[in-house]
Amino acid sequence: MKEILKWATEQNRAVCAFNVTNMELVQAITEAAAESNTPIILQATKGGINYAGLVYLVNLVKSARTVHPRLRVALHLDHGDSFETCKMAIDAGFESVMIDGSHLAFEENIAVTKRVVDYARKFGVTVEGELGQIAGIEDHVSNERSLYTDPAVVRDYVTRTGVDALAISIGTAHGAFKYTSEPQFRFDILEQIHAQIPNTPLVLHGASSVTPSDLATINKFGGKIENARGVSESVLAKSIPGGVRKINIDSDLRLAFTAALRQYFTEKPDHFDPRQYLAVARAHVKELVKRKLSSFSA
Ligand code: G3H
Ligand code: 13P
Ligand code: ZN
Repeated sequence: MKEILKWATEQNRAVCAFNVTNMELVQAITEAAAESNTPIILQATKGGINYAGLVYLVNLVKSARTVHPRLRVALHLDHGDSFETCKMAIDAGFESVMIDGSHLAFEENIAVTKRVVDYARKFGVTVEGELGQIAGIEDHVSNERSLYTDPAVVRDYVTRTGVDALAISIGTAHGAFKYTSEPQFRFDILEQIHAQIPNTPLVLHGASSVTPSDLATINKFGGKIENARGVSESVLAKSIPGGVRKINIDSDLRLAFTAALRQYFTEKPDHFDPRQYLAVARAHVKELVKRKLSSFSA
């Protein structure tokens, strides 16, 4: 993870961090990255780990490394909710963890983050912290509105915790229903944060664009997803000169996977072999990942 973040900083690019929960996603993402010769981060939330199983996830990534020996890939815990969750991931072989203390009071956030950093250091594991609150729903945090990161406190937080990367809130939001009104992206805040901590890689969560063609396919083939809205890839790309080095994408993968399956089941109502329809979903996710990599990492 350290090398991947260093690569992004030197190249003035951002690495895509994709959430994974099954073999087909791991295969699609790593194949796309290997073919694009681009480093990537695979990440799993506590919910993802509960679904797939810790051992399966760690070994799926290990298998991907065997299949693509030249691929630079890191396995990261997304939105770790406690020291114990982070310790569990580190002990299982994750190379990086996020401790999400963004909902805590500042001093409590520092205390739990520092505890994770102290433990992670012993194993050469990197740590991502968070300041400010990102709107949307995740496993343990649900915020209706963004609470932008305060640039005045970021240096104190980074110095006292020793985090390797910092997730910030500048107007992106989690999930497929990000905005009910015009989003306010605060590039001015990003600039101020970057000026305070120029050597800390910044992380943008909630970076799905909610691909219009996938949304249309889902709704055409029996789905009903209304009022979904994401953040455009061109807006996200503007954050890269401001020090954003990791861009988190989950919802777009879910939509791509679902769109391919819905279309498949409608067009081939007599098929029932998972190898047939999962191969189609996997190929569609791979296409999406290639597009994301060329938007942010090329
Ligand atoms: O922010 C992270 C994810 O998009 C939420 O994923 O449903 O696995 O918690 P989850
Ligand atoms: P999206 O819901 O926009 O894909 O965000 C994912 C994310 O931030 C994972 O941590
Ligand atoms: Zn997130």
